Amino acid sequence: MSPDRDVVRERYGTAARRALAGEGTGLLTGDGDAERLGAVHYTGEEIPAEVTATSLGCGNPLAVADLHPGETVLDLGSGGGLDVLLSARRVGPAGRAIGLDMTDDMLTLARRHADQAGVTNAEFVNGTIERIPLPDASVDVVISNCVIALSSDKPAVFAEIARVLRPGGRLGITDIVADHTLTDAERAARTGVVECLGGALTAGRYRALLRDAGFAGIDVRLTHEVGDKLHSAIIRATRPPLVIPMAADHAEQVLATYQAGLDTGHASFETTAPDWATWDAVHLPAHRLVALDAAGDVLGWTAVSAVSYRCVYAGVVEHSVYVRPTAHGQGVGYALLNALISSTEKAGIWTIQSGIFPENSASRALHRRAGFRELGTRERIGRHHGQWRDVVMIERRSAAAGIASD
Ligand SMILES: C[S@@+](CC[C@H](N)C(=O)[O-])C[C@H]1O[C@@H](n2cnc3c(N)ncnc32)[C@H](O)[C@@H]1O
Repeated sequence: MSPDRDVVRERYGTAARRALAGEGTGLLTGDGDAERLGAVHYTGEEIPAEVTATSLGCGNPLAVADLHPGETVLDLGSGGGLDVLLSARRVGPAGRAIGLDMTDDMLTLARRHADQAGVTNAEFVNGTIERIPLPDASVDVVISNCVIALSSDKPAVFAEIARVLRPGGRLGITDIVADHTLTDAERAARTGVVECLGGALTAGRYRALLRDAGFAGIDVRLTHEVGDKLHSAIIRATRPPLVIPMAADHAEQVLATYQAGLDTGHASFETTAPDWATWDAVHLPAHRLVALDAAGDVLGWTAVSAVSYRCVYAGVVEHSVYVRPTAHGQGVGYALLNALISSTEKAGIWTIQSGIFPENSASRALHRRAGFRELGTRERIGRHHGQWRDVVMIERRSAAAGIASD
């Protein structure tokens, strides 16, 4: 069972008031706590001992989040502020580190720590992680350390993270995850410090809720045990990127992404990307889409060609989808395919088809997820670098377009 929010606030308020009085938080004093929780996860960081001493985390999200100068980082449930201060250093003067916490005395403690550490690009905000007081798409990275497990409304937390992250933004957190064998009765009995985490999600449920909130590239990895049937875990996910119609000034990056795909040897029989005039001539102008990162650079593209001049096939197209190699695993291909499906269905196109080399298991899985079916394998259908290769034929028949009988 997740503890009541007031109980959580009172617990951490008491801890903060003790720390402000120089008495330590009074938490993490159990047998073995110091080896599994708190400051033990931070080595090689120059941070005042008073700050590290108030760490109540279960890992080090900074080791997961891969922060860059200039980014805006939000720490959910920032406590004594250690992760915010470390983030502030990594994002530098052009970046911002924001700590969010619902406990006033924790915010006071964190602000004192920021002063002690001489950090000026950090700010601490009062609010709950279920209703984050920040605008839409205003944050590059969300971090958190051992907080989400405490929430009694985790779907709201993930929806709020998705809302405040910019498209293509990322989540890199540490949290407590429950073993799937933890029973309801055992959960209800967990009322101690670590045990107030009886409401922790299982790894499977964590993934499912992140997926429901629209995240891609979800990775939940257990790191170490923190209590009976409770594990610390690192969790990564990405908010899918912005997909917009392709413009002329994307051409160079579209062709570079195309070439990078061809260079893998698993994308197409082609070996060299064409020039723009050739590419432009064969792709229908109405359904050319690009996924962009925050800087406006192309992460991937998709487009379609007509398959036949015959009227009966007017609603059938062949598609291509290419993702920059550095952007694989971030939901770029899925976002592009969904946008392509929506764009083509609106235009009355009922079937999207293509062929994939059987060895390209990532593309086959992506297309299955987007509703394509595999029709069969054409054997030794063409030669690629002198080798005869098979092609798996795929198609997606729309349930929305091409339905009416007239
Ligand atoms: C286990 S401590 C972790 C603090 C910090 N992340 C660290 O690693 O030291 C949990 C913190 O999250 C805050 N918190 C818990 N539930 C919250 C909620 N629903 N909204 C905002 N803050 C919350 C508490 O006030 C507390 O400061």
